[in-house]
Parts: sequence; C-alpha cells; structure tokens
Amino acid sequence: MIHVSATPVLALRGISKRFGAVQALTDVELEIHPHEVVALVGDNGAGKSTLVKAIAGVGPADEGTLEWEGSPAEINRPHDAQDLGIATVYQDLALCDNLDVVGNLFLGNELRARGILDEVEMERRARELLATLSIRIPSVRIPVASLSGGQRQTVAIARSLLGEPKVVILDEPTAALGVEQTAQVLDLVERLRERGLGVLLISHNMAEVREVCDRVAVLRLGRNNGTFQVSETSQEQIVSAITGATDNVVTRREARTPEVDQ
Ligand SMILES: Nc1ncnc2c1ncn2[C@@H]1O[C@H](COP(=O)(O)OP(=O)(O)OP(=O)(O)O)[C@@H](O)[C@H]1O
Ligand SMILES: [Mg+2]
Repeated sequence: MIHVSATPVLALRGISKRFGAVQALTDVELEIHPHEVVALVGDNGAGKSTLVKAIAGVGPADEGTLEWEGSPAEINRPHDAQDLGIATVYQDLALCDNLDVVGNLFLGNELRARGILDEVEMERRARELLATLSIRIPSVRIPVASLSGGQRQTVAIARSLLGEPKVVILDEPTAALGVEQTAQVLDLVERLRERGLGVLLISHNMAEVREVCDRVAVLRLGRNNGTFQVSETSQEQIVSAITGATDNVVTRREARTPEVDQ
C-alpha cells in the first residue's frame, strides 16, 4: 500500500456557486491527496461539472476557499489552476483529428530549435512520455483520427501531464468507451497514482469507481452527501448516497468538517 500523505494537495472548503435562481453548489468540501484517486459521483445535475469548473478556474466559485499543499490559494482563471499544478481533461477531448500524436501532445507548446519546430525532439519526448505511462499506440506519427477511443483518451491524458501537474481531473474519461478501452484508461489512472499524482475521477460507473478509486465523494443536489473509503463501503451504500436514500444525519455529519462538528 502506498502511503497517502496527511496534507491534501488540494482542499476545497465551503464552496458555493449559484447560476441565477439555481444554487448549483452549497458549502462543498473536498480533499485530494497525493497518491490518491478520488471519485466524484452524483446524479445528473448534482453539481459535479460545476465543481470541476470551479477547480479548473473556468467558472470560479462564488464562495469558499481553497488550499494547495496546505496553504491558501486562489483560482480565478484557468491559468491560476495550471500554475498551481492542476490539469483538467474534459470529456470532449479537444484533440485535433488531422494532427498526429506528437502534434497533439505538443499543440500550443511546440518545441523549437533556432526558431524552427524541433520535430525530432518532440517525437523523442512523446515516445518517452508514452513509454513511461505504458501507453501503446501503433505509431506516434499517425493522425489521432485513426486511433481507438481509448487510445485517444490516453493521448489526451498524456498531454495534460506535459506540464507536470500534481492533480489531474478527469471528467468521465470512459463514458464513451468499450470494455477493453476502458481498461486501458483505468490502467493509466493507476499509473498516475503510482507517480504520486492526486486524481479526481468523475464517473457514473460504480464498477470502475470501485476498481480504481480509493475514496468516493458523493454530491447530491449540490451538497456533499458523504465521503466513503471504497475498501470499506458496499456499492449499495454509495448508490444510496447518490439517490438520497441515505440522505440522513450520519452522512451529513460525515460530510462536515471537524470544526463544524464540535
Ligand atoms: N451555465 C449554467 N447556467 C445555469 N445553470 C447551470 C449552468 N451550469 C450548470 N447549471 C445547473 O447547475 C446544476 C448542476 O449542474 P452540473 O452540470 O454541475 O451537474 P453534473 O453533476 O455535472 O450533472 P451531469 O451528471 O448531468 O453531468 C444543474 O441544476 C444545472 O442545470
Ligand atoms: Mg456534468
């Protein structure tokens, strides 16, 4: 078992967000540690994407605070999140179909030598990156349009790692994938954990949550509805928290911070 550090790399405290009359998030708490995969689950409209956008700086929270490696931090725009070391891979991957794997990995961050694109070095680094992540792709010089969905997803995740983030957020990375391709992506998630990253995995798939995640944070109607250690929790307990069958005092207490409990 890899040691999980006591200080979260990222902690959200009392995050709230409103869209007009809709209170999308209320007082949400979340912690992600190095070497940890945390699942973020909840019904449609529970607030998962809104929370991801708040962390990524795309849609900053109205209220609440954020700690990075134990110190207060602010995320008001995407750059703030990137500078801290947070990478987000959205569901609509944003890969360029006509570019090859190397081109996609370095898109917007091209390496140059004396002003000219350094294709040799980019290809070398691309191979190295994919090899360290044990990602197998027929060739780094084929257009990503000809890769499988799983391979495309692993390329998108690999690209997010070029900035050497400490936290990676994956918004439903396997939603559109078959069994074999899902397995590839989940393997990669486990490799990210081995490398010491904290991973936030948004998922609707309980089987995959149970397979790769250490903890599960449940959102219901924009609020925390329990955080569970996967190894100590049944699938039924998680599903009950998602649907509200266990929207009770015990889960509410679990969702609160120690200070509030006193
Ligand atoms: N830009 C927006 N303007 C108005 N309301 C919004 C906006 N974005 C989200 N909401 C509302 O906030 C709530 C939370 O939505 P969110 O997209 O975060 O849910 P989700 O948990 O990601 O759901 P899903 O599983 O369907 O992706 C919903 O009631 C949604 O309608
Ligand atoms: Mg969503």
